[in-house]
Amino acid sequence: MALREIRIQGDPVLEKKCRPVKEITPRIRELIDDMFETMYEANGVGLAGPQVGVLKRICVVDIGDEHPYVLINPEIIETDGEQTGDEGCLSLPGKAALVTRPNHVKIRAFDENLEEYTAEGEGLLARAFCHEIDHLDGHMYTEIAEGPIHDIEYAEPEDEDAETEEDETE
Ligand code: NI
Repeated sequence: MALREIRIQGDPVLEKKCRPVKEITPRIRELIDDMFETMYEANGVGLAGPQVGVLKRICVVDIGDEHPYVLINPEIIETDGEQTGDEGCLSLPGKAALVTRPNHVKIRAFDENLEEYTAEGEGLLARAFCHEIDHLDGHMYTEIAEGPIHDIEYAEPEDEDAETEEDETE
């Protein structure tokens, strides 16, 4: 396994439509392993082929519930409800913006053995499925953001650490 370079918004590869996967080759298995490793290393919950420069309809998703998903040639087949919340992307690090997505999504996809399956997600998982599948058609969340693209605010404990360091310096 190896880390892959994550492409940043502005790279034309992020604006292209991806091709379907027809067979699982050793290279594709390696790509999937690398995509998981790259996503975990970057503390992301999803990563799509174009984000590592590969124009194939492959995404990986893991929202931290111990159920990693490999999505090959995925399609959204049902949606329900609505959620509006901050969304970010590893291709636009340190940034987020409000995006409305369905609150419940059902997908059909193929796994790493090219076996078809369906999966359902709510909340963050539904958001991740929609976000990653959008990447396969060259779309970023910034196209549908409802507010300004803003810097991600860090959680309280990190602020406290920063203050402690300042105190020690003084
Ligand atoms: Ni993304």
